[in-house]
Amino acid sequence: MCGISGVVGLKSISNLLFEGVRNLEYRGYDSCGVALMNKTRLIIKKDVGGVEEFYRKHNILQLKSKIGIAHTRWATHGKVTQNNTHPFTSRDGNFALVHNGIISNYRPLKDQLQKEGFKFFSETDTEILAHLLEKFFKRSQNVEQAFVKMLSLIEGTFALAFISSHLPEQIFCAKRESPLMLGIGDEIKFVGSDFNAFIDHTKNAVILDDGEYAILSRDTYVVKNILSKEEVTKPITKIEWDSETSKKEGYPHYMLKEIYEQPQTISNALDMETSELDEIVDWFAKSRNTYFLGVGTSFYVAKYAKYIFSRLAQEFFPSISSDEFMVLANVKKQSLVFAISQSGETFDTLSALKHVKSRGARTVAIVNVMGSSIARLVDKVVLQRSGPEICVISTKTALSQMVILTLLAMKFALKKKIITRKTYNLHLRALRDLPAIIQGILNERSGFIHRLASRYSGNRNWLYLGRGVYYPIALETALKMKEVAYIHAEGMSSGFLKHGTLAMIDDDVFSIVFVPPPEDKVLYEATLHSIEEIRARSGFVLGIHFTPPRKNQDLYSEELILPSMPPLTAPLIHLVTGQLFAYFTATSLKCDIDKPRSLAKSVTVA
Ligand code: M6R
Repeated sequence: MCGISGVVGLKSISNLLFEGVRNLEYRGYDSCGVALMNKTRLIIKKDVGGVEEFYRKHNILQLKSKIGIAHTRWATHGKVTQNNTHPFTSRDGNFALVHNGIISNYRPLKDQLQKEGFKFFSETDTEILAHLLEKFFKRSQNVEQAFVKMLSLIEGTFALAFISSHLPEQIFCAKRESPLMLGIGDEIKFVGSDFNAFIDHTKNAVILDDGEYAILSRDTYVVKNILSKEEVTKPITKIEWDSETSKKEGYPHYMLKEIYEQPQTISNALDMETSELDEIVDWFAKSRNTYFLGVGTSFYVAKYAKYIFSRLAQEFFPSISSDEFMVLANVKKQSLVFAISQSGETFDTLSALKHVKSRGARTVAIVNVMGSSIARLVDKVVLQRSGPEICVISTKTALSQMVILTLLAMKFALKKKIITRKTYNLHLRALRDLPAIIQGILNERSGFIHRLASRYSGNRNWLYLGRGVYYPIALETALKMKEVAYIHAEGMSSGFLKHGTLAMIDDDVFSIVFVPPPEDKVLYEATLHSIEEIRARSGFVLGIHFTPPRKNQDLYSEELILPSMPPLTAPLIHLVTGQLFAYFTATSLKCDIDKPRSLAKSVTVA
């Protein structure tokens, strides 16, 4: 949800600023802008379009400066226009500011500034901030005091950074409910929305907390509390990720690279210290009512968890989408709320967790990004160690979360003596076999999936169907299709079909059905019934299944046969095939794979 990058160093930083903001582009990519300092004069450039296009068009790398800030935008207030692009400057041109978040009280502040003669050129909530800095500087002649005064007036959420010709060697920044961190190098300092802004240059980060601001110069930095203005001593966080894992490594897109990384991310998840998970299992046992929480893909992972806990541990733990959580969940002191979030920054999930904490209930989360807001908020965090996921569309992180949740359900079932140690070990074997099986699918089946996807890429309507635990897989893989290929894909439990949607079946509505292995007898038979219902209406069915149909040879219009799998891990293989099907459909349609229109990697606004 917008990326902020800032650098102050000894030599020209134009290229570092470019790398920083380019690495953050997955957070938003409607428009881009920079503010650099030429001695004591600010140079501002901004335009609609992506980072590389903007840099090329305006020759930004030719501009030499030892300090600068940059922004890549995901529009919230105001359309995608050059005027609405950050940075925003004060009327006198002495302050240039970039912002991520939403200033909720910007209207009265803007009205007041207009009365005082300030002119506005954008529709954004951000522009007031640059004018407020000018206004308060005029009174105090002190940049820091003007900054703190401005911060004390604004409501809402923000991560922001500015530079000023009054102090041309310093970057000022602050945070409330939108992520912001500092990168600490020798004779160089960075500010960024996340590690990717500076991971190539330093692995030492200082993560700002809500209500803090910082002042950076090339050789020093200070962090202070906005209210008390007192200095805060902050620990240095060592970034574990390797910048190399953030590169495409020859893959045409990050999405494909990240799908191909799944064997490794599953192994990483399974290598996790079991004691980390055992404590959570104790919490499940002690909790009066447990909820799973997440939104988007993470909600579908939560839904998967609901099925897997019901199946393995005979516990019904509702899953609720974060955006609906506060109106639906009945959280008490003895409740446990288990959140799932790749980024650890999603506003809806973070808000729901804050609500849960205010009720005194316990919180746990699986997140991929260390030091993220959710990781720091919850009582216990499971770091999934999937490595950076750059594509806006989640793939490897979702699969890895499902594996961790399966492991937790198995452990809970063992603790409750619902399964024996022997069964537990069999399940564990099935999980440990997964990386090799997925590798086989990637090596041997992806060409076939590619051909199928190209053949049907002209189809504009898909129903994605699955029963039981295959239902969240249908939902998640349909979401992949919508996000990356902009094709209407409706995920549904296949038993639900005959209660209305069956009326849609015609030559233009195609179905994909995720068929369980025949050993999963009840689900398998029920799924075949649904297929028959579609076929009886001459509907097209792409069946993804584990065995060739025994009797009915024309059960499927098209089929994709997978290697035989134990029921526990079969849905996870379906997930991978659905990811690939969406990816290859989108490449056939020449879509922007890693940065689909209108989306952003972490949704840090309400
Ligand atoms: O970072 P999170 O897992 O909390 O993000 C939640 C959703 O915004 C995210 O899963 C979104 O649906 C992705 N675009 C999925 O591909």
